[in-house]
Amino acid sequence: MTSTRVDVRPLPKIDLPPQTSDIGEIAVRTARPGDEHAVCRLVNAWADEGLTLRRTPAEVVVRIGEFVLCEQGGFAIGTGALAVFSPALAEIRSVAVDPTVKAKGVGRAVMTFLVDAAKTLELDEIVLLTKVPGFFAKFGFREISAAQLPPSFLEEAIIGRGRKLVGRTIMIRDVM
Ligand SMILES: CC(C)(COP(=O)(O)OP(=O)(O)OC[C@H]1O[C@@H](n2cnc3c(N)ncnc32)[C@H](O)[C@@H]1OP(=O)(O)O)[C@@H](O)C(=O)NCCC(=O)NCCS
Repeated sequence: MTSTRVDVRPLPKIDLPPQTSDIGEIAVRTARPGDEHAVCRLVNAWADEGLTLRRTPAEVVVRIGEFVLCEQGGFAIGTGALAVFSPALAEIRSVAVDPTVKAKGVGRAVMTFLVDAAKTLELDEIVLLTKVPGFFAKFGFREISAAQLPPSFLEEAIIGRGRKLVGRTIMIRDVM
């Protein structure tokens, strides 16, 4: 069943439209200041395996509006981020599910929320870099080569930020 919750707290500037979608007992919402520690706990749980990039609360809080949290019983069990790069393009980053609740649909809930947010923002395409392409293929992402990335994204978001492509699959999907 789908329902909408109204958040009456004053919100700081955020990048994603505030919205909530319930999927059974789990709910996904836009993250807010104060959530950065939960985001880091989830993302960093996978950093030693190289599946995610380690984040600090200070790094996350300045981009908190890009993140979402999936909660169950008030406990954060999943996260992910939609980083808008241009009016047409965004990147999904830092998708991570609490290792104790893997394979329970939390990753799907996070991805559904992020893709819906991209639709609301009327973006054209979403890209991502990942070591688990099979998961993202479930959500319509297809593999591309670095040469197929928009050149400005490659130069600014990858090379310019010193990010490595080695060992990662580059994927893209249309938003609509
Ligand atoms: C990948 C991850 C987000 C999946 O989350 P999850 O909650 O376990 O996934 P879900 O239960 O929602 O699964 C959704 C679908 O994806 C599939 N799936 C899950 N993990 C998968 C994987 N590693 N490879 C391929 N398919 C996968 C499931 O089988 C399911 O398919 P179905 O709907 O056809 O049955 C989670 O395992 C995780 O946090 N991994 C470590 C961090 C990571 O690699 N993040 C990606 C960074 S880019």
